[in-house]
Amino acid sequence: MSRFGICLTLPFFLLIFAACASTTGPKEAAQTVDLNNGQEVEAVSRAVFDFESKTVRLNSGYDMPIYGLGTYSLHGETCVNSVKSALASGVRLIDTAHVYGNEEEIGRAIREAMQELGLKREDIFVTTKIYPGSDMADPEAAIQGCLDRLNIEYVDLMLLHHPDSNDVKAYKSMEQFVAEGKIRSIGLSNWYVEELTDFLPQVTITPAVVQNEIHPYYQENEVIPYIQDLGIVVEGWYPLGGRGHTAELLGDEVISAIAAAHNKSTAQVILRWNLQKGVVVIPGSSNPAHIQENTELFDFELTAEEMAQLKALDRNEKHDWY
Ligand SMILES: NC(=O)c1ccc[n+]([C@@H]2O[C@H](COP(=O)([O-])OP(=O)(O)OC[C@H]3O[C@@H](n4cnc5c(N)ncnc54)[C@H](OP(=O)(O)O)[C@@H]3O)[C@@H](O)[C@H]2O)c1
Repeated sequence: MSRFGICLTLPFFLLIFAACASTTGPKEAAQTVDLNNGQEVEAVSRAVFDFESKTVRLNSGYDMPIYGLGTYSLHGETCVNSVKSALASGVRLIDTAHVYGNEEEIGRAIREAMQELGLKREDIFVTTKIYPGSDMADPEAAIQGCLDRLNIEYVDLMLLHHPDSNDVKAYKSMEQFVAEGKIRSIGLSNWYVEELTDFLPQVTITPAVVQNEIHPYYQENEVIPYIQDLGIVVEGWYPLGGRGHTAELLGDEVISAIAAAHNKSTAQVILRWNLQKGVVVIPGSSNPAHIQENTELFDFELTAEEMAQLKALDRNEKHDWY
C-alpha cells in the first residue's frame, strides 16, 4: 500500500475514469472502492488522452484540452492578439500566472474572442498560478486577485507556481475556492517526487495537474510516470526548450530527420512526442503562423522507433533554475 492509502497495485477492476469527452463538465470523476477490508480508497488510473476530442478527463471530472498556448513574457496588445489568434486557430487552453503580469490582457482577449468567435465560456480552459512569497502568505487575497484581473467568471485550473513555506496553507485556500465554485480544478507546478511525497498527505483534494519543465533535453522520465500513476495529469512547460533555448532543440539533427520523414516541423514533432507520452503541451508564441502550426499535431503519429530515438536525446539539461 502506498503512503497515500492508494494501492497502485490494486487489481485492474478497481480502475476507470469515464472516457467520453466534451468540454463541458464536470463528468463522472474518480470512483471510490471498498477494498473488502472495510477500508474505502479512491481508485486511480492514468488519465487517458482522447485524440478525437483532443482533451483529457481530469480527476476533478472536468475535461482539459491537451494542447494550448503559453503566455509567459507576452504583454499588452501582443498578448491580446496572441490569445485571440490562438482561439481563432482552435486552441482552447490558455496558460497564464499572476507573476506573468498579463492576466488582465488574457481576460480581455478571452471576452473579446468569445463575442467575435461565438465561443461560450465553457469552451475555453484557463489556467493561472499563484506565486511563492506574498501570494502564498495571503492566499485568499492572491486567488481573488487572479479572479478579479481575469474577470471571466471562474478559473478552470489554478496551480501553486512553486513550493513555498506556505504552500499547504495556499493549497487549502484553493480548495475553499473550489468548494465555492470559483475554481474548477487545482494543481501544482514545479513539484517533483520528493515534494509530492511530502505534500499530498497534507491536503484533501488530489491535484488534477502537475506542470513541470519537460522537453527532449530534459525528459523527466522517472517523474512523469510517478505523477501519472497517481491519476494526476502531467503538463510540460518549455516544450520547445524555452525562449533563448529553442534554436538548438528546433535544429537538432535527430528531430529534424524525424520531422522530414513526416513532412512536419521539428516543433510539431516535439509537441507530438509529448502528447504520445501523455504530457499536455503549452508552447508559447506571439507568431500566428507558429500558433497555427502548433495545433497541427493530429495528422501523424511517431513510431515506437522514433519515440526511442527521441528518448535517447535526454541530457538531464534543465533550462531554468526551478
Ligand atoms: N510553471 C512554470 O514554472 C513555467 C515556467 C516557464 C514557462 N511556463 C509556461 O510554459 C509556456 C511555454 O514556455 P515558453 O513560452 O517560455 O517556452 P517554449 O514554449 O518552449 O518556447 C517558446 C519559444 O518558441 C518559439 N516557437 C513557438 N512555436 C514555434 C514554432 N512552431 N516554430 C518555431 N518557434 C516556435 C516562440 O517564438 P515565436 O513567438 O516567434 O513563435 C518562443 O520564442 C509559457 O509560456 C508558460 O505559459 C511555466
